[in-house]
Amino acid sequence: MMKVDRCSAFLSRAGWVAILAALVSGYVTSEPVLAQSSVTAPDSTATRVMACTACHGEKGQGGRDDYFPRLAGKPSAYLFHQLVAFRDGQRKYPPMNYLLAYLPDSYLREMADYFAAQHAPFPELPRPDVSPEVMGLGKKLAMEGDETRHIPSCAACHGPTLTGVEPGIPSLLGLHSKYISAQLGASRYGTRVITTSQCMQKVASQLSEEDIAAVSAWLSSLPAPENPAPASAGSLKLALTCDSGEVK
Ligand code: HEC
Ligand code: HEC
Repeated sequence: MMKVDRCSAFLSRAGWVAILAALVSGYVTSEPVLAQSSVTAPDSTATRVMACTACHGEKGQGGRDDYFPRLAGKPSAYLFHQLVAFRDGQRKYPPMNYLLAYLPDSYLREMADYFAAQHAPFPELPRPDVSPEVMGLGKKLAMEGDETRHIPSCAACHGPTLTGVEPGIPSLLGLHSKYISAQLGASRYGTRVITTSQCMQKVASQLSEEDIAAVSAWLSSLPAPENPAPASAGSLKLALTCDSGEVK
């Protein structure tokens, strides 16, 4: 609930009307523009995603509020799948559920492609205020896992540099620890339901509250990666048989 309150404080009613107007007019005007020759068509997606960049940053680099996640450079199929999940109510965050309601797949796919193609700088994240022991636990879980507790490492699926894997696994870098821990909690308690694969639910259900706090803190402390691109499809043998994050 806190998230929503913060959001409504951030966007006045007038702000919301402006965002919706931008989104709707973008949608309505986009069809004829797209039907024209691609040589003369203006970059209308950039205009339409203005409804999104208020929160996610101009290039989807991550928001000014600590809860608004980075989108830039995540696999397009992953982003598309999340947009469908918000539109259809499997993932819940009222402002986004509301914005995406009734939008067609083609439109969601275009926005996903747009953000996947952005090469935005990584945000400066606050240094997590936790002990070296907690950071150590976070690093261990992320890079090695814990066999005795049947916890695979995050790197086993999110890639050796944690920048994600095409087509369905997102980067874990450039995200605030609060966002990461909220998503792990949501997977664990089943409020973020992933219809294409249950992997994250399985992993999250093995993690204690302490594990979640530690791994979220450690991940958010990492510097920008040298190469932020997700690893190519099929380059990793995933830790659990979870349909390789395949979307559809
Ligand atoms: C009012 C602020 C706000 C606006 C406007 C907004 N978002 Fe979001 N978005 C969020 C928040 C907060 C989350 C995380 C919600 C959660 O799961 O708790 C999110 C999550 C997402 C995700 C999932 C990210 C991931 O890594 O899983 C995608 C994709 C996304 N938004 C795209 C968009 C697009 C495209 C638009 C424009 C149509 C948009 N958002 C508009 C705040 C916003
Ligand atoms: C077995 C493979 C697998 C392992 C191991 C794994 N993940 Fe994931 N993770 C996924 C998949 C697949 C998704 C995308 C889920 C979806 O489509 O919503 C995901 C999504 C996420 C997300 C959501 C990202 C976002 O932008 O919203 C977070 C956070 C996350 N994982 C954290 C972790 C952490 C932390 C670990 C290690 C403790 C971990 N994952 C281990 C497969 C895995």
